[in-house]
Amino acid sequence: MPVHLVDHPLVHDALAILRDKRTAPDEFRRVATRISVLLAAEALRDVPMAAAPVETPLGPADARRIGSEVVVVPVLRAGLGMLDAVLALVPSARVGYIGLQRDERTAVASQYYSKLPNGLDDAYVLMIDPMLATGGSAVAALDLLARSGARTVRLVCIVAAPEGVALVERHHPEVDIYTPVVDRELNSQKYIVPGLGDFGDRLYGTV
Ligand code: PRP
Ligand code: URA
Repeated sequence: MPVHLVDHPLVHDALAILRDKRTAPDEFRRVATRISVLLAAEALRDVPMAAAPVETPLGPADARRIGSEVVVVPVLRAGLGMLDAVLALVPSARVGYIGLQRDERTAVASQYYSKLPNGLDDAYVLMIDPMLATGGSAVAALDLLARSGARTVRLVCIVAAPEGVALVERHHPEVDIYTPVVDRELNSQKYIVPGLGDFGDRLYGTV
């Protein structure tokens, strides 16, 4: 089962603020970054390391550095709210973008943009998209990453629905999902319940 439930008190504290309908965009953005740091750190737990001995002021020390290229791929637009967090953890990461928009009526995602770095086949790829609802957007983005050569992909989200998890598992069983929670269900408009509403709208104040 490739779902990792990130069960840290700080993650749940931040999630409570994101879920609260009274949280305004400025605080929502800050807390989205805070929770994303914690989630991304967990999703990077298996990143390959390489020996990198250093000299401390007192002599030689064994040390290790990240030994693989990290590529972070936010799914526009809401995924941008998680990007600074990953770049704070891995400043050398390269960034690819995938633009997807769900049709408000059908909830079917269509792609309007993509720009991916080359060399994805050897990279440790973190795809970031806060909401995994029907899973249509995630599967479309993961399909594109696979066609572009990515082989090691972690999906980091902030709220998932059972339907989205199942769809990703069916189409991309090789992809590990990192999320704090799998919520109860989707409503008739395919929003996650209880969820936190429309992440992109709350992030950017476009409600
Ligand atoms: C949201 C979210 C995901 C998608 C999840 O994006 O950020 O990409 O919906 O829904 P799904 O699992 O049913 O595909 P949205 O299409 O609303 O666009 P936005 O990020 O530009 O607001
Ligand atoms: N996208 C969101 O932003 N929220 C949901 O609940 C579902 C899709």
